[in-house]
Amino acid sequence: MHATTETGRRIHEDHDRTIAMLNRLEEHLRDAETFGIPTLGPDTPARSLVADLDALLDRELGPHFDFEERAVFPLLAERGAHELVQHLTDEHEAMRPVGRRLQRYCALALSEGFDEESFGAFLHFAEDLVERLERHLQVEETALLMAVETMLADAPDLDRALAAGYGG
Ligand SMILES: [Fe+2]
Ligand SMILES: [Fe+2]
Repeated sequence: MHATTETGRRIHEDHDRTIAMLNRLEEHLRDAETFGIPTLGPDTPARSLVADLDALLDRELGPHFDFEERAVFPLLAERGAHELVQHLTDEHEAMRPVGRRLQRYCALALSEGFDEESFGAFLHFAEDLVERLERHLQVEETALLMAVETMLADAPDLDRALAAGYGG
């Protein structure tokens, strides 16, 4: 969704980055079905994918979720969007452990490469996270951003203060 507020734009840009990463990940998962377990030698596409995924998860599950939960959701709840806020918070809670497990397999793969067992686990958590995040982003790109835009369209000071508190 096109955002006109600074805060909405920051959130949307993060979502765009995450969607691009998920698309890239899905492409690699499809390739793996055809070509089997990827090798993670230096400068291989699989190595850069795993490293980029790990970095994206640091950002998404850390500052991005935290910003939404600490800065944005309470303001929206005050304005009556309790159900939406509860739903998105529950989804964050469900995704954090899946993302952390996936990151453990990213770290293991980057140090030791994949074997059948670790790649199977990586696939399992990657598919689980892709499914959950895609669903989550669909709601945030519509209902959440619309609520943020409505809240901040006529409140530029609050918009600036919120956006300033969002690192990155
Ligand atoms: Fe979120
Ligand atoms: Fe988000």
